Amino acid sequence: DAVFYRVYVPSFTDSDGDGIGDLPGIRDRLGYLELLGVDALCLSPICPSPMVDHGYDVTDPRDVDRRWGSLPAFDALLTEAHAHGLRLVVDLVPHHTSEGRDWFRAALASAPGSSERARYQFRPGRGDGGAAPPNDWPSMFGGPAWTREPVPVSDDADGDDGRREWYLHLFSSAQPDLDWTHADVRADLETTLRFWLERGVDGVRIDVAHGLCPPADLPDLPGDPRLDQDAVHDVHRTIRATVDDYTGRMAVGAVAVAGPERLARYVRPDELHLAVDVVLAHAPFDADAVRKVIERCLTAVGAVGAPATWMLADHDVVRTVSRYGGGPAGLARARAMALVQLALPGPAFVYNGDELGLPDGAVPVEARRDLVWTHAEDSRDGSRVPLPWDDTLPGLGFTAGSSWLPIPDAFTALCAATQLEDTGSTLSLYRQALELRRSHAGFRGGEPEWFDGPLGCFAFRRAGTSLVCVLNASPAPVPLPAGDILLVSGPLEYGLLPPDTAAWL
Ligand code: BGC
Repeated sequence: DAVFYRVYVPSFTDSDGDGIGDLPGIRDRLGYLELLGVDALCLSPICPSPMVDHGYDVTDPRDVDRRWGSLPAFDALLTEAHAHGLRLVVDLVPHHTSEGRDWFRAALASAPGSSERARYQFRPGRGDGGAAPPNDWPSMFGGPAWTREPVPVSDDADGDDGRREWYLHLFSSAQPDLDWTHADVRADLETTLRFWLERGVDGVRIDVAHGLCPPADLPDLPGDPRLDQDAVHDVHRTIRATVDDYTGRMAVGAVAVAGPERLARYVRPDELHLAVDVVLAHAPFDADAVRKVIERCLTAVGAVGAPATWMLADHDVVRTVSRYGGGPAGLARARAMALVQLALPGPAFVYNGDELGLPDGAVPVEARRDLVWTHAEDSRDGSRVPLPWDDTLPGLGFTAGSSWLPIPDAFTALCAATQLEDTGSTLSLYRQALELRRSHAGFRGGEPEWFDGPLGCFAFRRAGTSLVCVLNASPAPVPLPAGDILLVSGPLEYGLLPPDTAAWL
């Protein structure tokens, strides 16, 4: 039932003025995170990376990128996080590597059919001269999921094109997919897991946990054979067995599958401890829709004896304030949903900056950095804009240099330092909520028991306790059920719970 604080490392705090966040920057904020009241940090990937996907393209899974620091800087962060009572989770990317990884460079330098190529998904093309991709799969980032290997530098212009294979990449062409049937690939993840667990991390996040094992024949669509194949569960059993060699550690998968029932398969007793997905984040601000998602998730994971993990936002989706409509209403709804999320049984993931009520930052086209932008109308940059800390400092305390994504003027009014002093701020709301979640026995109660409320509202009680959470997503103020008020996400109106507001009783 921990509260995990998801740190998007590039955007958290920059300690050395290069404009991008780093590990010493996180270390400087541990006091803040302890004050906030979270239990654990879950970092975005910190391994060496050319940063095509901001760390989700890894060249060496057992080192730290110099932009973020070094292994000693990581060890120092870990030790100090523990001293602050905070656990630390690292993000591993076993689905693909960077095109810059030694393995991939060796694969390109070796002939088709070589053992070097077998670690990745190389295939001959279809059609005349192999000029068409091996199948019809699209990449998650747009465009085809295949790229043809470049013409070797040594070849003359009319070299035999037919020899050039294609490689699979469910994300960008700079992120070639690994072949999980290859023994080296499996052994490498085990080595990586042990490397970080031996260093003392409390957990690992497994990126794209549902995408590791497409069928060997890579069939065409439909039916999306790219993802959520049965074979992947064997990998998760191996991960679980490795993590269980160490006391008190856990693995959380980032799992994007067809629904909570499919997700539950990843948290069966011998697989991952936890799985996070975006179902709650994708639910509209509508009491019925939110309740249905909650009930469906609890039923699905309850069937395998696992807790449901709740997440309202991360670095891949629009921030809650903007998603729920922006402006004062968006902020009110985001605050209300924070109370709903934190009243539920099971772990919660809070995305950095959500405790400040940040909206998405408007990033002008010329400043965009997310590679999804090359294929889509918009980018994920808006939710990745650096955090505002202190309006008396240059770069709002994020950086003394030039920030890697521009920080909009609107963030000046949302700095953490100012919000700490303001009892009505979103930061104060989160602090109070997290404090109550820790100290009040109601939060150790059972699953939600729902009771009917006015249209557009819901209320649930944590079974076996007197703790009640009420959400008003209707357009009119509603009376509160009987009970002492523990916390409200916004001011009451003449004793009534206003629209876009939640309360704990
Ligand atoms: C991460 C994304 C990333 C993708 C590819 C996802 O799980 O959250 O940010 O682009 O994996 O690595």
